[in-house]
Amino acid sequence: MQAPEYLNVRSDTVTLPTPEMLEAITRAALGDDNRGEDPTVRELEELSAHMLGKEAALLTTSGQLSNSLAVLAHATRGDEIIMEETSHLFTSEQGAISMFGGMVYHLVPGHHGFPSLCHIEKAIRPRDDIHTPRTGLICLENTHNHAGGTVISPELTRQACELAHRHGIPVHIDGARIFNASVALGVDVTELVRDADSICFCLSKGLSCPIGSVLAGTREFIAKARRLRKAFGGGMRQAGIIAAPGIVALNTMISRLREDHQRTRALALRLAEIPGLSLDLDTVQTNMIRVDVSGVHTTAAQFNTALKNRGVEVLVAGDTVIRIVIHRHIEDRHVSIIADAIADVASEFSGVVKA
Ligand SMILES: Cc1ncc(COP(=O)(O)O)c(C=O)c1O
Repeated sequence: MQAPEYLNVRSDTVTLPTPEMLEAITRAALGDDNRGEDPTVRELEELSAHMLGKEAALLTTSGQLSNSLAVLAHATRGDEIIMEETSHLFTSEQGAISMFGGMVYHLVPGHHGFPSLCHIEKAIRPRDDIHTPRTGLICLENTHNHAGGTVISPELTRQACELAHRHGIPVHIDGARIFNASVALGVDVTELVRDADSICFCLSKGLSCPIGSVLAGTREFIAKARRLRKAFGGGMRQAGIIAAPGIVALNTMISRLREDHQRTRALALRLAEIPGLSLDLDTVQTNMIRVDVSGVHTTAAQFNTALKNRGVEVLVAGDTVIRIVIHRHIEDRHVSIIADAIADVASEFSGVVKA
């Protein structure tokens, strides 16, 4: 008898490289990337820039490094960086831009992770006031992790960029999952990033690569970011072994994200029926679901422990909130296994209270 599968839906970062990616690693032409001599890295950077409609791109080790490099390349010490208050850049990156760049966060409220235009406008500092910091950059996040994988449309992106540029401020998009947004909206990714000054995306999430992120923008911006990457100790040598699966991912892994979204939706509809669990179906737009378990009188941590005993692992995303992220290793047949496990755990906790 086969052992039951362990279904890890904590994040799409648990995805493993495909056989084609592993094969590409073994065949990759390599060189010293710190000196611009790795042909596979150059190919990935050129392909990424082309796909995003930007002049140039830079391979980095992580989404966080791409974000930090972007902020430090656009802004200067003492500048304020405007972003929605639950942005990954603020909540989950250790305050790196303050730590290393001396920048200050200016947080604004948003809806589904999109900071409202009037809040952005109010947050922009007057250029000529000697008392206030200067606004150095506006950051958007698409899809928005903490809002539940929600997307920002091309039109909203355009409006935010237009507002920023009117004030002479650049815009960076943390697009760790920008291809999920493009697939969900049915628009080419260039539509989502055209008006932004820089954009980064991750290879190592739904696209299934083991490592990597790519930052893109103008040639001048990328040259600056490349210098900064070296300062961060992020210069690499035969990094073609990272770039090779990245090329496979960009060529073959994007359109399949639709399957992840369909399974996410199917699961969310099942979970919405479970008594005591609460979720906002409006935020289920890509591959994530956030579920509040307080209605079954337990904590997210306890809920996850009970789930793990049934072979399903989720992320503890708050005291009473769990996060589920569907990815390439989750098949149609797993959706009902996950839903049943969650229903069992929910009824178990409800039962404990009733007894
Ligand atoms: C929206 C967003 N930005 C940036 C990152 C950071 O990516 P990495 O883990 O590669 O540093 C993440 C990671 O989950 C993310 O969700």
